Amino acid sequence: MNQATNGKVALITGAAHGQGRATAIALAHEGYHIAALDIGHNVGYPTYSMGNNDDLMSLGKACEGLGVKYIALLADVSKADEVEAAVEKTISTLGRVDVLFNNAGICAYGLAHELTESEFDRMMDVNLKGSWLMAKYVIPHLIAQKSGVIINNSSVGGLRGMNRLSHYAASKWALTGMTKSWALELAPHNVRVISIHPTGVNTPMNDGLAEMEGKTPQEIAEASAGNLLPVPWIEPEDVAQAVVYLSSEKARYITGSQFVLDAGLLTR
Ligand SMILES: NC(=O)c1ccc[n+]([C@@H]2O[C@H](COP(=O)([O-])OP(=O)(O)OC[C@H]3O[C@@H](n4cnc5c(N)ncnc54)[C@H](O)[C@@H]3O)[C@@H](O)[C@H]2O)c1
Repeated sequence: MNQATNGKVALITGAAHGQGRATAIALAHEGYHIAALDIGHNVGYPTYSMGNNDDLMSLGKACEGLGVKYIALLADVSKADEVEAAVEKTISTLGRVDVLFNNAGICAYGLAHELTESEFDRMMDVNLKGSWLMAKYVIPHLIAQKSGVIINNSSVGGLRGMNRLSHYAASKWALTGMTKSWALELAPHNVRVISIHPTGVNTPMNDGLAEMEGKTPQEIAEASAGNLLPVPWIEPEDVAQAVVYLSSEKARYITGSQFVLDAGLLTR
């Protein structure tokens, strides 16, 4: 085994940019081989930029430069056939999955009575169904290994109400319910399941949402409830370090929990 690796494999969705990318690099630093999954092209809803294939290629160079193996997987997490093929490719190429980071997600503003049915459905399809589909195809491998961790990227919106984001908040609260239920199902197999709940993070999503509002990210942060600590947002690397810890043996008895990275926001 390469000295730089720990022999484990992390499968990360929404890995092309933002929190997924930062987490892939942080886990590669820890010696995990990386399977980086992303839709890789822009979509109609939401209108801000998704990650692309160039992002996945440059992420590959960064990970391989750290001495670990890397594969890029182009797939839409809401499509069962694409998810199944991506998980199969991960197993056939890298041999196992130790960490599933369900991170791919979308966000867009809209009052409940003004959302269209297709906007509501797409939010649920990506944020909720996509996480379940990934887990559905990964879990049999974790059970067979008798080890592994699933980390679902929820949000502070998975623990509170959010103005003009009810469909987003509903999808993120649902991730909390799935996390707790999967933790019950998988504890007998020595598999842990955790949700994480970041406040605003400095990513293309944050920038894209501000642009859709015709504002700067700073203006959006100032107008929102606000963090307790004097920062408008946290960085993708802060989320990445939480995932590194929760994936590690140091967190071996943490399961079913909600790990909050909110700079104090929920304490208000
Ligand atoms: N940015 C924030 O303020 C914030 C705060 C809390 C939680 N979150 C959550 O964190 C996660 C990551 O967010 P981010 O800020 O890095 O967002 P981002 O938009 O910057 O990155 C998301 C990535 O997911 C990919 N993606 C989107 N839909 C996909 C699909 N159907 N299939 C596969 N890949 C898809 C995109 O291409 C992109 O690379 C999301 O679930 C988001 O809801 C974000």
